[in-house]
Amino acid sequence: MQNDTIRIAVTKGRLEKKAAELFAHMGWDSAAMTERGRQLIARIPEQNTEIVIAKPPDVLTYVEHGVCDAGIVGKDTIMEYGGVYFEVLDFGFGKCRFALAGRQGEDFYKGHGVKTIASKYTKVTRDFFEKKGMDVDIVKIEGSVELAPLLGLADGIVDLVETGATLRENGLAVYEEIADISARLIVNTVSMKLKKQKLDRLIKSIEENL
Ligand code: PRP
Repeated sequence: MQNDTIRIAVTKGRLEKKAAELFAHMGWDSAAMTERGRQLIARIPEQNTEIVIAKPPDVLTYVEHGVCDAGIVGKDTIMEYGGVYFEVLDFGFGKCRFALAGRQGEDFYKGHGVKTIASKYTKVTRDFFEKKGMDVDIVKIEGSVELAPLLGLADGIVDLVETGATLRENGLAVYEEIADISARLIVNTVSMKLKKQKLDRLIKSIEENL
């Protein structure tokens, strides 16, 4: 990567759309993003910027390894995977929350047996129950985790809730809120020093256009 180029890893999907809207608002020609088709790197030459479209945990990996200077990723991914980078800004979009949920009308804390919790986010789940001093069995599920309590595999799930519609339509309800989530800007620790001026300008422009 050229030293005057800024490379930003952006989470594929919903955050990618939001990021493209923000960049357009900042005066960038974000057509390379919105019309990228199957291309994985969108170049915005007038801004000396490259946008790398990646899966959530890979955004962290590319930024941590310094092949991308910055990244746009959900706080959920940061909480689950950790890593070494600066978290510099809360975009305020991509808002949802982590919650413990399960079948409607049931008392999750009833009884003494060890509960089984299904989640895609096993670390977040472990941390949450460790803080409570509660021993649970955690089962990793890759998606549509709401199925696990419906099928009788789990007593509860730890998952992202946005509108609550998925829970409601499947007869589930939030038992407890765990954390508020939104999209964050992360920056590689070395880039922060070597490309300070450019990154400061980027951060300022983002803040002015949020
Ligand atoms: C997420 C999350 C819930 C749903 C919550 O799933 O895991 O299932 O969205 O949104 P709601 O509260 O507005 O209904 P996503 O659509 O990302 O797919 P996944 O289940 O495959 O992770």
